[in-house]
Amino acid sequence: MIAFSELPILNLRGKEFRENPNELHDRALSTGRIHRGKHGAEVVSYKLAQELMRDKRLRTNQVSFMNDMGIQGTLTYEFRCRMLVGQGFTQDRTTIRQVFVRHLGPSRAEEMRQTIRVICNDILDGLVAEGKTRGIEFYDDLAVLIPSRLYCHWVGAPKEDAPFVARISDQVLRVFTRDTSFMPSIESGYHELFDYIDAQIADARRNPQDNLLGALIAETDKDVWTEGHLRDFAAMILEASTDNTANQIAMVAAMVLSRPHVWEAVKADPELVPAAVKESIRLHSRSVRATRETLEPIEVDGISIPAGTPVSMVIWAAHRDPTVFPNPDEFDLHRERAPNIQTYGGGVFSCLGQFVAEIEMEEMLRALVERFPNTQMETLETEHDPFVSRVATMKVNLLP
Ligand code: HEM
Repeated sequence: MIAFSELPILNLRGKEFRENPNELHDRALSTGRIHRGKHGAEVVSYKLAQELMRDKRLRTNQVSFMNDMGIQGTLTYEFRCRMLVGQGFTQDRTTIRQVFVRHLGPSRAEEMRQTIRVICNDILDGLVAEGKTRGIEFYDDLAVLIPSRLYCHWVGAPKEDAPFVARISDQVLRVFTRDTSFMPSIESGYHELFDYIDAQIADARRNPQDNLLGALIAETDKDVWTEGHLRDFAAMILEASTDNTANQIAMVAAMVLSRPHVWEAVKADPELVPAAVKESIRLHSRSVRATRETLEPIEVDGISIPAGTPVSMVIWAAHRDPTVFPNPDEFDLHRERAPNIQTYGGGVFSCLGQFVAEIEMEEMLRALVERFPNTQMETLETEHDPFVSRVATMKVNLLP
């Protein structure tokens, strides 16, 4: 048995990661399934990551990084501690997840497809009406509007609120940068967010509506969960549903547009849209890693890892694991028995919005190939930190 602390450190987060992640991850994959990073264990193997994300001896811990930031006592801290991710394996957590699975699970998400299709086409109609189809900033002019308008639909707000929803999501999620200089803006963002949610809930109680907020209010009225839960989780859905989805929508478009043979194949057969979305996410995932920590000592490949060790599932490496994805650089629309991508994490902590998010990506791509089959991408710059990848700039010409 090898003590974890005796392993050499492999830095999967430094300059080399930012400049040439694929090469670094391929090297890590060729030398072991798990490595010691600067901040704990770094799992690069797809299969091992699948196992550990579902292992009850590990849990998420989104609280310790806030303790490290020293922001205890702030609204940000208190709210994030109450959220799903701040909790362990409690009955409360199970109840909350069950509520969300009922209202955002695969079949409910499928029922939202038509609404999402209308939103995508309405945004494109707006761009055409403004004569703004050339040189559009894909993220700001299109991608971010899809999830933020969907959120407005979910809470019965006018679509004009979408820029506010997008701005707040971006503002509060900066907490994940761990940069305390953002704290005043994050804290004021949460105050605005809760004022907004309170107003939406009050309005929905006065004028009951058949939407996601209405369904969450009905759960409260049936005593499935509390008023506090309703308020917190309506807020959580706002912050969780916009930023990640918008970035991944843009990256899907970028991956397909930068490969003319893929764009042509999808144009010729729109049935390939779901496969194109999955393969784009595999090649450029918004999430770079999913994190856990060990609740007790565990042993992996003859290495003993102590309790309390942070464990990262390096999604970008797992998505290039050649034992699972042969020829990982290839954009393959016909991968046989393609295994699940890991961009949404896994197990009882997995993303609750993944089914909706994927339909948003599919409907955006479908609308583009159907309405603007000669679309061209002019420029693309992405940047990534150890946790997420984002679009810095992406200029596109929408051409019919
Ligand atoms: C492409 C878009 C998205 C990506 C890449 C993404 C990614 C993630 C990841 C990596 C996690 C943590 C999973 C883990 O640790 O195993 C997560 C959790 C979560 N996501 Fe998403 N997400 C996306 C969209 C959404 C949407 C649209 C919603 C809401 C409608 C949402 C709601 C949540 C919630 C509530 C959790 C916490 C689950 C829990 O702790 O039990 N996400 N997401």
